[in-house]
Amino acid sequence: MQAGVKKLFVKSYGCQMNAYDAARMADVLAPEGYAETGVIEDADLIVLNTCHIREKAADKVFSELGKVRMLKEAREAAGLTTTIAVAGCVAQAEGAEILRKQRAVDLVVGPQSYHRLPEMLRQAALGPVIDTDFPVEDKFDHLAQPSEEKIRQRGVTAFLTVQEGCDKFCAFCVVPYTRGAETSRPAGKILAEAERLARAGVREITLLGQNVNGYHGEGEGGKDWSLADLLTRLSKVDGLARQRYMTSHPNDMSEDLIRAHAELPSLMPFLHLPVQSGSDRILDAMNRRHTAADYVRLVERIRRARPDIALSSDFIVGFPGETEADFVATLELAREITFGSTFFFKYSSRPGTPGADLEDQVAEEIKSERLGRLQEVVETQRRSFNSALVGRTIDVLFEKKGRYPGQIAGKSPYLQPVQVDGPETLIGQIAPVEIVECSSNSLFGRLAESFSQAQPTREAN
Ligand code: 5AD
Ligand code: SF4
Repeated sequence: MQAGVKKLFVKSYGCQMNAYDAARMADVLAPEGYAETGVIEDADLIVLNTCHIREKAADKVFSELGKVRMLKEAREAAGLTTTIAVAGCVAQAEGAEILRKQRAVDLVVGPQSYHRLPEMLRQAALGPVIDTDFPVEDKFDHLAQPSEEKIRQRGVTAFLTVQEGCDKFCAFCVVPYTRGAETSRPAGKILAEAERLARAGVREITLLGQNVNGYHGEGEGGKDWSLADLLTRLSKVDGLARQRYMTSHPNDMSEDLIRAHAELPSLMPFLHLPVQSGSDRILDAMNRRHTAADYVRLVERIRRARPDIALSSDFIVGFPGETEADFVATLELAREITFGSTFFFKYSSRPGTPGADLEDQVAEEIKSERLGRLQEVVETQRRSFNSALVGRTIDVLFEKKGRYPGQIAGKSPYLQPVQVDGPETLIGQIAPVEIVECSSNSLFGRLAESFSQAQPTREAN
């Protein structure tokens, strides 16, 4: 089979780990002759990489599958065959049910089985196939690495999965069931992947894991390495200027990781540390195993290590049994911490999780009303966090062309999008930018004089 003869379209929903997995699926299918296309109508293989975290996300898959089925039929009428695959967490959670609900689906593959995709595709030619096992072998050992050219196409920032699964069993969350038990990749393999990315021009990596700060993998000399050990080692990789990690549980913010924020210049001052609720009663019912005061104290320690750190959180409103007083405690915690950015969700009952069986589910109107009030508080915080940077000069890693001709776009150390007028030759470089304006989501700035002309070889760091 000639490379690039067949076309692959992957649509990814949900978290960054799904985005990473989507790229790895493309990598494993490239040697099978599949080239990626952005045009779904042209695709011989359509993969929906699904998310099961909330009901809405899971439902979306079935409406999308309805559309994909029509596409398959239209292509069939034109004499073309189309294979439809459902991957990701809905595939893991619903398995054979998906084939019953939508007969156009040829293949259902859980997140631990992507390395088996080539074999599954061969079987799918004969009839529907499912693989939602948690295999004993490590999928990462069998997933093809992307070519250097492919990495360059994907840009100067990259995700790198270092840990997968979760043993925390928060009462609302499907992750321990869809992604399985916590596992950490050996540091040597992560390092090899990071070096490969850096050689192909990647300047920033975000280490991914559902519970990334619980990372404990095999390090150099067979030692057990923490996330801090891993970050310290990765900070020495040539060309990698920036590191981030996501998502963390408060109870796994170890002392060495907090210290890494003080000591590693490449570790960016941004931390996504979901608290979910500010009420101790609800935190307990959620099985989070910490109090609101524990979280406040933890944030104090982190800010002592890195005073300018931007904190971000996830909140759930309307967990079963949440009263007005519980919700007010959440508002108070949000006000006390002041977050740079926040994600908030209405509680969505997920089958199979302990939360689904709790009585006292909160009415939808109350959830919406609380969401609105929380949104107001955190949006104000986000705007003031952004406007505090106006007039300051910060380093920006440029990633791509900007919204308008002559503009380039990048990220601040605090993960805010930044737009400036500047030459495309700066893409992949870090340059100082004076922030002159902000909106609630973006910063707008001016390049320092010496960087405003094209200087392809110059680096800020
Ligand atoms: N309902 C609403 N939000 C949820 N999350 C996880 N499970 C649920 C659920 N059942 C949110 C949490 C988590 C984020 C990824 O999604 O806030 O941190
Ligand atoms: Fe889900 Fe995160 Fe809780 Fe694990 S720690 S169960 S991934 S919310």
